[in-house]
Amino acid sequence: MNLIAAADANWGIGFKNRLLAHIPEDMAFFKEKTMGNPVVMGRKTLESLPGGQPLKGRVNLVLTRESSFQRKGIVTAHSIRELLCRLAPYAGKDIYVIGGASVYRQLLGFCDTAYVTRISCAYQADAFLPDLDGQKEWELTDCGEEQASANGLKYRFLTYRRKQKLRNAPLALQCRQRLGYNWKNQKSHSAHCSFRP
Ligand SMILES: NC(=O)c1ccc[n+]([C@@H]2O[C@H](COP(=O)([O-])OP(=O)(O)OC[C@H]3O[C@@H](n4cnc5c(N)ncnc54)[C@H](OP(=O)(O)O)[C@@H]3O)[C@@H](O)[C@H]2O)c1
Repeated sequence: MNLIAAADANWGIGFKNRLLAHIPEDMAFFKEKTMGNPVVMGRKTLESLPGGQPLKGRVNLVLTRESSFQRKGIVTAHSIRELLCRLAPYAGKDIYVIGGASVYRQLLGFCDTAYVTRISCAYQADAFLPDLDGQKEWELTDCGEEQASANGLKYRFLTYRRKQKLRNAPLALQCRQRLGYNWKNQKSHSAHCSFRP
């Protein structure tokens, strides 16, 4: 899985359920990466999207503990375990974890690549991405030039990669061990993937 986020100089990513800054170039990058691919987000991030609507052209998987939560165009999962199950049919695809803080924290261990748009200044924030520079499992593999957005904000595109690739092993393992079906055997997926709240 991939993680994609925009973080400020202190790894802040949001305040009062809103993004810290608007960088059109980052939005375009996000769209280019995620379009056509499944995206995973927390319920609060869904609520923070324009009109609380899912992202077009992508399968939107939303984590919530609320059993009655439904929204047109989303697939809900009520636990990480259920999420992994719902993701099984997309094992060959580029899955993107798109936030927010609680979801990044919980799914970082399942990600191989992290695309971080690093904003050069610091904002007041109440939601944070784990500091990838301080994590020994991760290394910075691509550090883009600092750029100035059309609105004057300075940022750079960074890519971090897990030093030892997971190659979806944890997902496959979780499915086999906890859910009792073979990751590769897609036919058995629907039979075993029926969750009740
Ligand atoms: N800069 C960026 O790239 C970026 C990207 C995305 C979001 N953000 C920011 O991040 C902030 C939101 O982050 P957040 O941590 O407050 O919220 P969040 O992670 O978006 O959503 C949290 C919600 O997700 C559900 N959830 C989380 N873990 C779950 C689990 N294991 N099982 C079932 N449901 C689970 C719960 O929903 P229920 O309460 O419904 O049970 C929980 O309240 C906002 O400020 C947003 O703007 C920034």
